[in-house]
Amino acid sequence: MNIVLFGPPGSGKGTQATYIVNSKKLTHISTGDIFRKNISQNTKLGQLASDFMNKGQLVPDQLTIDLLETEIDTYKNSNGFIFDGFPRTLPQAEAFDKFLDTKNMSLDKIISLEVSEDELVARLLKRGLDSGRKDDQNSDIIRNRIKVYESQTSILKTYYVENLKDKFFTINGERTIDVITKDILDILLKD
Ligand code: AP5
Ligand code: MG
Repeated sequence: MNIVLFGPPGSGKGTQATYIVNSKKLTHISTGDIFRKNISQNTKLGQLASDFMNKGQLVPDQLTIDLLETEIDTYKNSNGFIFDGFPRTLPQAEAFDKFLDTKNMSLDKIISLEVSEDELVARLLKRGLDSGRKDDQNSDIIRNRIKVYESQTSILKTYYVENLKDKFFTINGERTIDVITKDILDILLKD
């Protein structure tokens, strides 16, 4: 089973992925987490990504696509994946489709978490008090991340509705964490 968790910054992708991974024994791949790990280890990739991330901009597509493909290849025996924060642009989605084809893999469900902008900003500012994430530190950077989502990522909803119509689901992400998890698990049970 391969799932994409889709949604704006702060919509709960990482939180929900953690619960679903535990209950379904899937591999969680968060491109944001991988970039942050590289930044903390001061790798070449981390150095390339950090300026973009700290400003709330996207890391260039090819760098991200290469990273994702390498990461998938490291899990030879996985039951399946939850992709959190990837794909985020049309070129990423198209490259992802081609890559999955070459691996005889496909996406089973794309789940979009919908949360209002005010709630997103409130959540991320709150997390920024103790997360140490530079992109959570002020509302200008947070609002920029949301703008980037709206201008470059949200069009993927149309892409997936057109390409994988009955596999695309929208969820109200502005409820309690456990109610949302239950909705996601219900969706995963559908054919
Ligand atoms: P990434 O790490 O993916 O961050 P993001 O999308 O900005 O979103 P977050 O991780 O902040 O939020 P989330 O949706 O995971 O929510 P969470 O569960 O944490 O990306 C960071 C950067 O990396 C990008 O800006 C870009 O530069 C780069 N990058 C990554 N992927 C890329 C790609 N594919 N292409 C190019 N660049 C890429 O929850 C947020 C907070 O809300 C938490 O405090 C949580 O406790 C709380 N919360 C969660 N659910 C609820 C709930 N239901 N009710 C109340 N609070 C809740
Ligand atoms: Mg996250």
